[in-house]
Amino acid sequence: MIDWQQTLGTTTRGLRRSAVREILKAAVQPEMISFAGGLPAPECFPEELIRTASAGLLDGDQARRTLQYGESEGVAALRAHLGESVSVPTERVLITSGAQQGLDLLGRVLLDRGESILVENPTYLGALGAWRPLGVRFVPIPMDGNGLCTDALGEILTRERPKFLYTMPNFQNPGGSVLALERREALVTLAERHGFLIVEDDPYGDLRYDGEALPSLLSLAQAQGIGDHVVHLRSFSKVVAPGLRVGWMTGPPPLLNAVLTLKQATDFHPSTLGQRIILEVIQDPRYPAHLHHLRETYGARRDAMDAAMHEAFPEGTTWTRPQGGMFLMARLPNGMDATACFETALQEKVAYVTVDHFTIDDSGKDTIRLNFTNASPEKIREGIARLGRLFSSQ
Ligand SMILES: Cc1ncc(COP(=O)(O)O)c(C=O)c1O
Repeated sequence: MIDWQQTLGTTTRGLRRSAVREILKAAVQPEMISFAGGLPAPECFPEELIRTASAGLLDGDQARRTLQYGESEGVAALRAHLGESVSVPTERVLITSGAQQGLDLLGRVLLDRGESILVENPTYLGALGAWRPLGVRFVPIPMDGNGLCTDALGEILTRERPKFLYTMPNFQNPGGSVLALERREALVTLAERHGFLIVEDDPYGDLRYDGEALPSLLSLAQAQGIGDHVVHLRSFSKVVAPGLRVGWMTGPPPLLNAVLTLKQATDFHPSTLGQRIILEVIQDPRYPAHLHHLRETYGARRDAMDAAMHEAFPEGTTWTRPQGGMFLMARLPNGMDATACFETALQEKVAYVTVDHFTIDDSGKDTIRLNFTNASPEKIREGIARLGRLFSSQ
């Protein structure tokens, strides 16, 4: 008999499974209306574009290139294309197996046990999951409807010397907020003054339904000649298909070199087929129409959820209508414990996640994150009505 308590490494023993990935397993039951995951609408995958692209890539000579081992940095033509989109040279672009791999590798190359990093509170639980095993200290930055509070950050920086600050400036996960322009500028200035790196994670920026796009932290830093203060992470999971597992990052060369070295030891390189499909899809003349369709569909679903919540949720519930992305975050009245209602919700065949999974201090049990992209407007109305009845009966 193997004693697994002794056999698993100390880091692994203490690990918690991702709550959301566990909930997703429960949420695939038939009839379940799931607002839990960060899932795109499957009927919106650009199937025709992907089919055309893959057929060409698996033909004759092309197939021999597509199916061979590739470069660890990623497919050069894709890197060049992406680099151009953010005004950096090809050498500064690294393709990753989803943005999640970028977060994991960054943590591993940058962080030593006991060091502190600054995170929005609440923040993306996949980042917490990637960095928690490294034994780092998360320093929470308060958030409001305009993103992370830079005044509070300035105060925190009088006592903390963080290795980096992690932020999602566009349609934050879980809160949906957009970091205001003056705060973006203030953040870049603080990063230079205090000498820390900004990790800018932007998988949702292309999913804007209202309002004007704001400049990225990377572009603001580049304009001030301090582009090396920003690592910028992107993903095709939310706009093309997450199953292809293609994300990318750009950052200062010494950092990218370290990430590349680790990546060579991790998975050699991301799937070449996935990368080459993405390159074909984003260069296809039909791609802009796909993005347009995605925005129209998701914007309508956001509106359907917002309207259904106005009708069904108990008096005193508060939420904001995000300008884009995939999530709406709602705070239930009178400190109601949404974690305690969760099992009943599953019995009623509707799933959500509570925000305590996304916070540093386990606060947020009265707050839920609702995904509005995966279910149809009819399902959204039905699921929100079920939740409304449940929360109103508490
Ligand atoms: C903020 C954020 N970053 C990164 C990821 C990881 O995405 P992927 O690895 O699919 O590119 C997600 C996925 O939900 C996310 O919400």
